[in-house]
Amino acid sequence: MNNTMEVILINTAHALMADGKGLLAMDESSPTCNKRFAIYDIPQTPEKRRDYRELLVTAPGLAEYISGAILYEETVRQLTSKGEQFVDVLEKAGIIPGIKVDTGTVDLVNFPGEKITEGLDGLRARLIDFASSGLRFAKWRGVFSIGEGIPTDECIEANTQSLARYAALCQQAGLVPIVEPEVLMEGNHSLDECSEVTERVLKSLFYQLYKQRVLLEALILKPNMVLPGLDCTDQKSVVETADATIECLKRCVPAAVPGVAFLSGGQNGELASERLNQMNFKYDSKLPWPLTFSFSRAIQLPVLEYWKGIPENTSEAQNILLYKAKCNSLARKGQYAMDPATIE
Ligand code: 13P
Repeated sequence: MNNTMEVILINTAHALMADGKGLLAMDESSPTCNKRFAIYDIPQTPEKRRDYRELLVTAPGLAEYISGAILYEETVRQLTSKGEQFVDVLEKAGIIPGIKVDTGTVDLVNFPGEKITEGLDGLRARLIDFASSGLRFAKWRGVFSIGEGIPTDECIEANTQSLARYAALCQQAGLVPIVEPEVLMEGNHSLDECSEVTERVLKSLFYQLYKQRVLLEALILKPNMVLPGLDCTDQKSVVETADATIECLKRCVPAAVPGVAFLSGGQNGELASERLNQMNFKYDSKLPWPLTFSFSRAIQLPVLEYWKGIPENTSEAQNILLYKAKCNSLARKGQYAMDPATIE
């Protein structure tokens, strides 16, 4: 990577972390998007997926709260109803276009209950193609379940090495890598167990990034928050989860990283905003990196629930999207209050 490329990547990473803004993850694979459509009887067709994604990217004024949008490859290949490329629509709106490049997870052979993310084969050529289509950053997600004896060190090493190799390939192709190691919420594990596993994963990840000579100044970390499992009987307060998340990140994430953008992971949307808010409210000036959101479900679910695939609902569904984006923008600044009356 030459110096000019380094500067471009570093500038893009900082632009993604712009003050008061976060990322909109809209990169659900077609099967995942279809599953969400099925709940509302929305036809599971490429055209309806296109319409829905068009609703998201054309919401007026979205760029006030959203710095970048992560697209799915299908969307990049589609045109909007006005015949425009999604990448161009985003750029014109002042939102940086990015793309999910992993091809999903499969069982990790010999390790029951564990997954490995695929997509490295042929990735170099795909990234060159994506960069020439105007995409400026990419995303790859590795997943880790907590359970009896898992995650194993072998699963952690295999996935974090893939994340590091993906990140190196991205930077070489001129794309900022979003590096997403997700410790899943399913299970009855405690807050402490989530903290311990997240720490193992992040320490391994930054070791592998170092080994693969990835430029830390030109990537974004997209981690899970440290939370008790969904079935844990000891659910913790917003303050406790915020403190646990910050403690874990401070132990693991080098100061050179330009930013941390949390996934929502199936949390209740308001709680995700409150937890992000609490972290920014309490720790903002005491951390080496800004903290923001890169949510999919915590932003999108109310939008989809209202839209239901009905064209007449589009405008109001966009208002809901803007409202959710604004809530999280306030949380990014530590100024979010759950009462909607406090948000003008
Ligand atoms: P959620 O916010 O729904 O977890 O999605 C974030 C994401 O991009 C998952 O890869």
